[in-house]
Amino acid sequence: MTRQKIFAVTGGASGIGLAVVQRLHADGHKVISLDLADKTQTSALHELGVDIMSIDVNDEVSVRDAHAAIIKTYGAVNGLVNSAGVIQKRETPDQLSMKDWDFVVHTNMRGTYLCCAVFGSHMVEQKMGTIVNIASIASTSGVPLHAYAPAKAGVLSITQCLAGQWGHAGVRVNAVAPGYTQTPALQAAIDRGDRDRALLVRQAALGRMVQTDEVANGIVFLLSDQASAITGVSLPIDCGWLASVGWETYGGLPHTKQENVQC
Ligand SMILES: NC(=O)c1ccc[n+]([C@@H]2O[C@H](COP(=O)([O-])OP(=O)(O)OC[C@H]3O[C@@H](n4cnc5c(N)ncnc54)[C@H](O)[C@@H]3O)[C@@H](O)[C@H]2O)c1
Repeated sequence: MTRQKIFAVTGGASGIGLAVVQRLHADGHKVISLDLADKTQTSALHELGVDIMSIDVNDEVSVRDAHAAIIKTYGAVNGLVNSAGVIQKRETPDQLSMKDWDFVVHTNMRGTYLCCAVFGSHMVEQKMGTIVNIASIASTSGVPLHAYAPAKAGVLSITQCLAGQWGHAGVRVNAVAPGYTQTPALQAAIDRGDRDRALLVRQAALGRMVQTDEVANGIVFLLSDQASAITGVSLPIDCGWLASVGWETYGGLPHTKQENVQC
């Protein structure tokens, strides 16, 4: 039986965050799902019986208030997962407004840093705790997402900088870099014609999309004592997308060849 720990998950009402909440709850931990106010009524979470609080990671007061409420109600947080985020439409720089750029960078990068700073500083005082941020395959790749990719590169840098800053206190900071993951956000982009499912899987060695519980498995590993010597890393969970980038130049991966397609 694992000792019960206290975990906070931003973006816990949907997609990857929801899968993490479900997994930690199933493992017997106390989990607080933090999400935008209009998402806090999510039926999946109510059915589970996990604790829910509203937060806007773009708002410093909201983040500080949520953290204070958690400390008061549950005590010190053992682990934080920063899954609150937004994806962006594929747009060229002349199409992408600076308002949209600011929103995407603000939510994904500033929001992640703000939550790390507030929760992590308290972890340092407690001399314990671990954080997992959600980077992306776009953190280290050139893609036509001119706000999202720089924001996710920033998340990687934040992860590395804070790992060095807080390692002396035993606080670990890591990231996962998911590939194309079957979530409501990505499905909505596919449905409105902004992403093509066939192209998303074409470059993945495993020839498929990632499932949310597969990302949650990696996050739970990094949160756990099994990862006690790991800090400052970003773990790709991408069905081999990053490893296979070069194959397109040589005509594509074997699964893209007609004779190798399995029905
Ligand atoms: N789905 C993918 O293919 C993929 C790939 C790589 C990285 N990611 C990242 O994973 C994270 C989760 O994405 P997802 O696909 O599960 O999306 P999702 O939309 O299913 O879930 C994101 C959650 O974040 C919440 N959120 C958004 N803005 C917020 C804010 N300001 N304050 C608080 N909560 C907020 C949303 O309400 C939502 O519940 C994001 O950081 C995303 O960039 C996703």
